[in-house]
Amino acid sequence: MQAFLPFPSALNLRSHMPRLRIQLTALVLAALAPFPGARAFADSDSTMKQIRIEKKPFGTFGGKSVDQYVLANAHGMTVRIMTYGATVTAIDVPDRGGNPDDIVLGFDDLKGYLQTVPYFGAIVGRVGNRIAKGLFTLDGKTYKLAVNDGPNHLHGGLKGFDKVVWDAAPVPGQDGSVRFSYLSKDGEEGYPGNCRVEVTYTLGDDDSLKLEYVVTTDADTPVNVTNHSYFNLDGPENGSILDQSMTLNADRYTPVDSTLIPTGELAPVAGTPMDFTKPVAIGARVLQVGGNPKGYDHNYVVNGGGGKLVFVARAAGPRSGRVMEVYSTEPGVQFYSGNFLDGTLVGKKGVAYKQYWGFCLETQHFPDSVNQPTFPSYVLKAGDTYRSSTIFKFSAQ
Ligand code: GLA
Repeated sequence: MQAFLPFPSALNLRSHMPRLRIQLTALVLAALAPFPGARAFADSDSTMKQIRIEKKPFGTFGGKSVDQYVLANAHGMTVRIMTYGATVTAIDVPDRGGNPDDIVLGFDDLKGYLQTVPYFGAIVGRVGNRIAKGLFTLDGKTYKLAVNDGPNHLHGGLKGFDKVVWDAAPVPGQDGSVRFSYLSKDGEEGYPGNCRVEVTYTLGDDDSLKLEYVVTTDADTPVNVTNHSYFNLDGPENGSILDQSMTLNADRYTPVDSTLIPTGELAPVAGTPMDFTKPVAIGARVLQVGGNPKGYDHNYVVNGGGGKLVFVARAAGPRSGRVMEVYSTEPGVQFYSGNFLDGTLVGKKGVAYKQYWGFCLETQHFPDSVNQPTFPSYVLKAGDTYRSSTIFKFSAQ
């Protein structure tokens, strides 16, 4: 063993301590050098940080410059988020052999995202998911929103939070955090109240990506913000998600009508293709689920959810060994199996995103809650603060 070590023997270790320390540091730095994010570094206040944050130009939209933030930790996990839509454009995670690969659907450049894209990686809101017929009544007044999904309103309307440029800056004194903020003005997309929205993305040294949402308003308004990343844990260039396993901490889900509006019922999943209380391959029963096109596009009622942070889901890629666990304070999660993808969008690495090429786990309040009095409310009162957190935790097995 000693022959391989550039260090003095243990016997005369003490007399060599200062030299040993320098050599150890050099060895650690050399060992970490192949990993782009693998160095502790000093920021302007000279505090040692575990996560490296870089800001890069990513184009312009509507006369505004768009930036991309690159967050990297020491284990080869890298997350890229751009200010257009506060969109996650890439998440690189090591597989069981330690090889990082990008596991989310998206594009190499801003131009890709300016096509008609089904919300790849974006923050959706002011109200994510559907509002029946784009109508709701609040404080005695009826509001009419854009109808952009069959007869319904979806993901904030024609120009939701996914299609605007957010402000962004690293959070001082908070390692690995970048805060994105956006002012959604009174009347924007038909919603009442000036809403200040903040989403803080934090990459952890433990390979977690945390999203913290804080929203305030000066008039009562519905608010339901979430992230719409499409995951493919074995890498989108390697095939569909159908053999990737899913576990959902949900004994019930909210059945929907033919336009994907909940009927109001909380139905048990037991004995149906909706049951993911134990790990099952996503493709095992995907064709048994109704819908047009067929597949999962349902809100699950998270057991014990809606308050404290609880376990929501665990997904695993059998080929790569990558695992993603999801934790959230939200009462629901929309499990969407990429049913509407049809191969027309060609993304990173020239991959055509076909049906079932990515899955979403959109932590949220239940769809159409503003019209469903039995569902937990997402109406934010003037002067109150909306807070929501979701953690995506990665590992390999
Ligand atoms: C959500 C919806 C789906 C679909 C996608 C985007 O997940 O629930 O029905 O609209 O967004 O295509």
